[in-house]
Amino acid sequence: MTDPHRPQYHFLPPANWMNDPNGLIQWKGQYHMYYQYNPNGAFHGTIHWGHAVSTDLVYWQHLPIALTPTPDGMDEDGCWSGCAIINNGIPTLFYTGVHPQVQIMATSSDDMLTWQKHPQPVISTPPPNIEAHAGGHIRDPFVWRENNHWYMLLGSKIEGSGGVVLLYRSDDLLNWEYIHPLLAGDVRKKEPFWTGTMWECPNLLTFGEKRALIISIQATPNDLLGAIYFTGTFEADQFSPDVQERLVYGNYFYAPQVMRAEDGRYIMWGWLREGRSPHLALDAGWDGVMSLPLELSLLPNGKLAVEPVPELSALRQENYHFDDLQITPATGLLENIQGDAFEIQVQFQSDLQTECGIILRSSSDGREQARVIYQPQQHRLVLERLNPNPEVHTDNHIAPLFLENHEPLTLRIFLDHSVVEVFANRKICLATRIYPSHESSNHLGVFAEDGMVKITSLDIWKLKDIWHE
Ligand code: FRU
Repeated sequence: MTDPHRPQYHFLPPANWMNDPNGLIQWKGQYHMYYQYNPNGAFHGTIHWGHAVSTDLVYWQHLPIALTPTPDGMDEDGCWSGCAIINNGIPTLFYTGVHPQVQIMATSSDDMLTWQKHPQPVISTPPPNIEAHAGGHIRDPFVWRENNHWYMLLGSKIEGSGGVVLLYRSDDLLNWEYIHPLLAGDVRKKEPFWTGTMWECPNLLTFGEKRALIISIQATPNDLLGAIYFTGTFEADQFSPDVQERLVYGNYFYAPQVMRAEDGRYIMWGWLREGRSPHLALDAGWDGVMSLPLELSLLPNGKLAVEPVPELSALRQENYHFDDLQITPATGLLENIQGDAFEIQVQFQSDLQTECGIILRSSSDGREQARVIYQPQQHRLVLERLNPNPEVHTDNHIAPLFLENHEPLTLRIFLDHSVVEVFANRKICLATRIYPSHESSNHLGVFAEDGMVKITSLDIWKLKDIWHE
């Protein structure tokens, strides 16, 4: 029986639990994706590294598990997150072994299929002045080369004070010298938003003279607050941020990792968590899915633009195109277009005065649906989820969206069964999960709250399944 909530064009393992993307790298014509994987069920535990490859970022081939915890070894309780680099032609991984959390190096001599672990951790304890305050949390190595040195970032925390990213340097990848905190959060600071108590999965990106530091923030291990970034400069080992923003709104997108493709693009995937009771995922036999591959670029205002990679147009099938649609509160669901896997591109008129937007996966009676709503007075985008099932999340997501005078609202929306990703005006990215269960919940619609709104163009494509060609 097919599972109505299982995404069909997003990457996920054939079954079981998946969380963070790891070790993303392009090598010999293939993109490699590793990921936090539990082969023993749809719950977090006995974490291995799953592995898949793609030649086009769209279609994936599953490969055997790449890292397995070594019984009685330094990663016996899990091979946690980390990254891949090429060192003098040798594929090399850094990841966190548990418990306690230590940093491990591994190399491959068979094109990244199997990995030999260096017998001792390359970092086995936190820096002395951090150790007493980190509560054992120090993980997720991110390694890069710069100024003839190797550098590493680790995510950690200082109890009572906030999350922290630690900076290390090495000349041989085996001996690492701790330099200082690259950046530290402050639990007392609520503006522009609270940055939690523990920082995980750091990534540092270079855009000419500017840098972007991406981190994922926790309130508690069970309360993940999403991914955020800082942009600024990195000089003489000092990072000076001047912008602090959310990377993706909606709270389901977590622990992203960024890959530098050979053509220079920064391509990111994030883990999209489930938005339903854990027992529903256990029953379904799978938990967690990757976001679409997203390209990151730095805008002149210091913010990052997050956009789906152009390769995804390979998924497009039938197209429905409309020009100059006048919509009013009486406009209902679009007839004749039904489904659960779509890409939608819509441009509204500029200078909107009334709330308007797109309806996804609506039941015929509208009691179950998701709505992407632009609210011009509040300058924001809201994603509302209506679902009578008390076991699925229905809280609203709110993202600020300021449009310039005469700047039309443009939305690009990807719907894939239980996954929704929304991109607005190169300004906002929002990702969420929905689990409609009514058999009629496959309608699309457009709406305007009061008065008349013009949609200048609307394109809808049905999208292909990437697993059954
Ligand atoms: C983020 C994270 C990482 C850790 C991994 C464990 O989701 O908690 O910090 O390495 O997942 O699976």
